[in-house]
Amino acid sequence: MKDRVVKTMKSMLLFLILLGVVSGRRTQLLEGLPATSTVEENSAAGVSVYSFNVTVSPLASGVAVLPTIVNSNPLTEAFDIESKGGLEFRVITTGNPVLDYETMPKSFDLQIFVEDTTGRTDLNTLTIQVIDKNEHPVFRGNVAIQTVTIYVLEGTPPGRIYQVDAADPENERLKYSLLPATVPFSIRESGAIFSTKEFDYEKDPHCYFLNITVTDPDGLNSTKTVTINIININDERPYFTTKQRIYRIPEEQSPGTIVANITAKDPDDEDSPSRLFYSIQSSDSRLSINPATGVLQVSGRIDRDALPLRLHPNISLLVRVEDGPSSGHAADMEITVVIDDVNDNPPECHPSDFRKEVNENTTPGTFLVDLRNYCKDIDVDPSNNQFSFTGLSGFGSNNFALESTVSGRLVMTGTIDLENPANPGIEVYTLTVRVQDAAHPNYSNIIYIYIRIKPVNEFAPVFHNLSYVFSVSEITKVGSSIGRVHAVDKDWPPNAITYSIVAGAGNRDYTNIFWISPTKGDVRILARLDYETTQKHIFTVQASDQEKSTTASVTVNVLEVNDEEPVCSPSFFSLQIPVDLAVGTNINGFRIECQDRDSDPRSFCYFINEGNENSHFIFSPSAGSNTSRLILASRFDYEGGLDTNWIYSLRVHITDDNLISAREKMTHLIKTGTVTLSIRVIPNPTTATTTTPGFTVVTERENLFSPSAWYVPFTITAGSALLLGLLGYLGLLLLARLRTHRTALENMKFVNYTLNLLFITG
Ligand SMILES: *[C@@H]1O[C@H](CO)[C@@H](O)[C@H](O)[C@H]1NC(C)=O
Ligand SMILES: *[C@@H]1O[C@H](CO)[C@@H](O)[C@H](O)[C@H]1NC(C)=O
Repeated sequence: MKDRVVKTMKSMLLFLILLGVVSGRRTQLLEGLPATSTVEENSAAGVSVYSFNVTVSPLASGVAVLPTIVNSNPLTEAFDIESKGGLEFRVITTGNPVLDYETMPKSFDLQIFVEDTTGRTDLNTLTIQVIDKNEHPVFRGNVAIQTVTIYVLEGTPPGRIYQVDAADPENERLKYSLLPATVPFSIRESGAIFSTKEFDYEKDPHCYFLNITVTDPDGLNSTKTVTINIININDERPYFTTKQRIYRIPEEQSPGTIVANITAKDPDDEDSPSRLFYSIQSSDSRLSINPATGVLQVSGRIDRDALPLRLHPNISLLVRVEDGPSSGHAADMEITVVIDDVNDNPPECHPSDFRKEVNENTTPGTFLVDLRNYCKDIDVDPSNNQFSFTGLSGFGSNNFALESTVSGRLVMTGTIDLENPANPGIEVYTLTVRVQDAAHPNYSNIIYIYIRIKPVNEFAPVFHNLSYVFSVSEITKVGSSIGRVHAVDKDWPPNAITYSIVAGAGNRDYTNIFWISPTKGDVRILARLDYETTQKHIFTVQASDQEKSTTASVTVNVLEVNDEEPVCSPSFFSLQIPVDLAVGTNINGFRIECQDRDSDPRSFCYFINEGNENSHFIFSPSAGSNTSRLILASRFDYEGGLDTNWIYSLRVHITDDNLISAREKMTHLIKTGTVTLSIRVIPNPTTATTTTPGFTVVTERENLFSPSAWYVPFTITAGSALLLGLLGYLGLLLLARLRTHRTALENMKFVNYTLNLLFITG
């Protein structure tokens, strides 16, 4: 606002001056003007440039308009006029704008106007020449406005690191210099800063302050500070600060147990060791290292008692520290962890139960088993793997003892006789022994020992009786038991006894008449006994317990029984008698004779059982003799019609009960023989007839073998031969017939016969 007012005023003044000039009232009021003066460039405000006086006309009482610079050029604002008192004035610099020789006009023409109170004016020129002055060189770029910090990587080869930009206002050639002189930097004429060495962050200072001075030829200079920071790069191997290489831990530590704190440092980076990474190179599942802290811990089971630690109780690890997770510098260190044994295993026995056999009556002191041979404590250290045997117990353990707790030798101390009644008869003793660690915490195991007292076969079996007598009826059935022998074994437990017949069981006809049950001692008969042949059998039985045996004799008395029937001769006979034979006649003088192997000759009775029609025949005597005659007892009467039968077939029974009392007959056997008689009655008048030739019919004896029966096989053979001959004869007859009557019809018949024959055969 004020400027505008000033400008307006100046315009008005200029107008007035022009008016005055036109009106011609312009006079010399400004003494000493026009003139030329000088001023130094860049002069501060208030520097006096030129002084002059105003001379007013004699009529004037003073100055109406003070001397004023009326140029409209703004640069004239660099000057002003101030009163020095009275009518003295001077031109001074305002300092704004600063007069710069290099950029501004080198000369100013100031138009100065003045008017006195009478209206007279004057306008005159003051030429001010700006005088050049030598100035300080100036920095340009970043250096000019701030403190520049330059970063240099350590290890960088010496070279140009920065270009300083400076200029001289007078455009003179500038010289660069650098302080302090001791720093490893230099500056060239061009202003380029060079490093003169390769920096090692770990050895050298990390920061340098350089005072860069730029000087013009007149010695004017300017100085700026440049900071140089050396930047650390990862160029150093970390190193372990842990000096300990050998550690000891007990075995079987739980995972997480700290074994060692491995520490390391990185010369690159002393301040933050967290940038180090730890690892184990030789991979081992038993130990692990925390990658960040280097704490070495147990991570798996470490059993000193198992291989390979059992032999080599050391775990060797190659620990690596790296200053970068993947690429970087690394250092390795081998450490050894020695594993100490701990008493962590009880003694173990294989087997844990023992079975031993000892004969009864074994002498005290007999060695049974050395437990130490079977027991072992797998702990490694001798202090941990020692053990002892104690606490022998169990029912009957007083018969046994351990020789010493160390040896583990079990011996008998008593005698165990199984037959001793004082002995409970135990065959198996169950003993327990404790096998116990010598070292704390005294782990233990129990061993079971089963001792079987093996019975010894000390005694032979003994028969109840020294000899046995059995009485056996001769008719006892084959297979029947006739008695029993019994023997006992005094051994405990009793042995099984086997019975056998060792001598005398047979006879001429049978190898074995007697049989004995091997287990029960039952004596049975295998063949019929025959009193009539042998009245007494003596044989020897044996009782055996497989090892020892005893014998006893057995006498079998065969008891007589009427087991033989009367055998009479002839057993078949044909007789012819005349019809008028006198009563009482011994017919044809016929008689039978009987014998019985087990009966008295007087014991026979004779009966005619069948065919004795009208009782014409009797035997006399009818009892009490071994022979009896056939007697005609009554006359035949065919004429009277009493008799009609001309042929009699008599069946005669002969019993052997004549001497037996009536009471005995109820129980006793009565054997009966049979004789068959064929009697033909010859009517009158008679012609002598010959008896028809007949066969001898043999009654087969159902009885036992008889030495006199040698003829039986002979008879059978002869009979067979006879029959064959007869058949052959009949065959010849038939052939002859067929030859003589060979007609078609008969041929057909023949065929029929043949077919029938074949049919029958088929
Ligand atoms: C390892 O360091 C941990 C804690 O950092 C400490 O508890 C432990 O006792 C140290 N162990 C060893 C073996 O120095
Ligand atoms: C019959 O008995 C008598 C004695 O009583 C004897 O001499 C005779 O030999 C016997 N006859 C027969 C066939 O046994």
